[in-house]
Amino acid sequence: MKENVFVPAAEIERQKAIAAELKASGGGRVWIRTFGCQQNEADSEKLLGICGLCGYTPVGEAAQADLVIINTCAIREHAELRALSGAGQLKKLKADRPDLLVAVCGCMVEQEHRRAQLFASYPYVDFLFGTDRLHLLPELLLRAKREKKRFAVTASQPGGDFGVISEGMPVRRTSAYRAWLPVMYGCNNFCTYCVVPFVRGRERSRDTETILREARELIESGCHDITLLGQNVNSYAGDTDFPGLMRKILELPGDFWLRFMTSHPKDASGDLVEAMRESDKAARHFHLPVQSGSDRILARMNRRYTASEYLEKVAYIRERLPDAAITSDVICGFPGETEADFEQTVELVGRAGFDMLYTFVYSPRVGSAAAKMEGQIPHEEKVRRFERLSAFQNERAAAINASYVGKTLRVLSDGEENGIYSGRCSQNKIVTFDRAVAPGSFAQVEITGAQAYALSGVVRE
Ligand code: SAH
Ligand code: SF4
Ligand code: F3S
Repeated sequence: MKENVFVPAAEIERQKAIAAELKASGGGRVWIRTFGCQQNEADSEKLLGICGLCGYTPVGEAAQADLVIINTCAIREHAELRALSGAGQLKKLKADRPDLLVAVCGCMVEQEHRRAQLFASYPYVDFLFGTDRLHLLPELLLRAKREKKRFAVTASQPGGDFGVISEGMPVRRTSAYRAWLPVMYGCNNFCTYCVVPFVRGRERSRDTETILREARELIESGCHDITLLGQNVNSYAGDTDFPGLMRKILELPGDFWLRFMTSHPKDASGDLVEAMRESDKAARHFHLPVQSGSDRILARMNRRYTASEYLEKVAYIRERLPDAAITSDVICGFPGETEADFEQTVELVGRAGFDMLYTFVYSPRVGSAAAKMEGQIPHEEKVRRFERLSAFQNERAAAINASYVGKTLRVLSDGEENGIYSGRCSQNKIVTFDRAVAPGSFAQVEITGAQAYALSGVVRE
């Protein structure tokens, strides 16, 4: 049985009425700075849509704005420090223009110690709001304008509760031809290193029909690349399961690629691979984060698969979808990781042959189980492992990319930047090419060169 997790339509209407009031009173200009993953980027696009209802038009820098929103990430300490420094940069602006409204939202503000820190050390921040309170923005803006008293509205405060999905607010997308399409929110997996279940709450899925309608609108408006988003898309539970949802979208008419992020290896099923095989529109890319190649560490991480089970999945994908790229994430220096455990990770990375690997230094997160574990590893040692693995992977990736030389790939152009023409292929690799192709158009590119992070080639038609 699916719980009723949706914000009542009447509440959305109430927020829209407040938004209309704000718009009538003049609106203003908004600048949103986004840290973190695609989920946060999608949230910022929703915030921009809501700001539009409130009469705020987007501008390119804080100095031109009447409202600044910092959308934060909490996944590693580095991400938090960057977000805090982003907030810190507004101090002078607020001193010069006391009417400037400054809001901080996103994953970081769902942690009590960060809220306390923001209130204590960032007096120029006017209000905080949490990851599933975006739809309340009109009301929060009105309150901030009227009260002049600082406040926080989050799910993790006493009396708060995670778990709502709000539909019916507009989304203002950054790109006309690539789109994030969230299908579910939250996570139930509780990997022991991870803060996400604490800052985004439990899993909840959007209705299949709503997602389909949005996908249809995107395709009709000229979008050629749609990424379905969720912390673990395989847990999607709407009127159908995730492969079912993929099939329904893949059946829609139009010329587009369909992608998804992220797939937990324990749940990535044979049926998902089959759904992808059935259609060329399913982009040939799997992001399948492995985290470690040591069974002992995988168990301590609560990942619920072994290294050999993981490699079996990779082999299955390679057999059924030979042209698919497989990318992954690894954490270096998880508590208790010995040199031998780390060597097993290097070995797994060698055997899996990842097209791309995102390597992270383990960062203890307040409230997570791993932060309290014995065997925390000194920073320099974590960095040493990180560097060793990165160098190893770079060689592997360059060799894999070299095997693309001579092939002709369909590439979705992103246009020109700093004199370089580039786009992405179905495998999600960056491809640079020799001449202008309108952003958002497809081109056939013959690959003539390869590096660890990109392919290069010439346009053939
Ligand atoms: N839901 C996604 C991942 C979200 S976080 C998934 O399960 O794949 C993206 C990546 O950040 C993770 O895959 C992991 O490699 C890394 N990560 C998460 N918490 C971390 C921490 N505490 N320290 C270092 N890296 C971390
Ligand atoms: Fe974090 Fe694990 Fe959930 Fe991914 S699956 S968001 S790593 S708890
Ligand atoms: Fe960061 Fe939150 Fe995403 S912690 S990685 S922005 S879900």
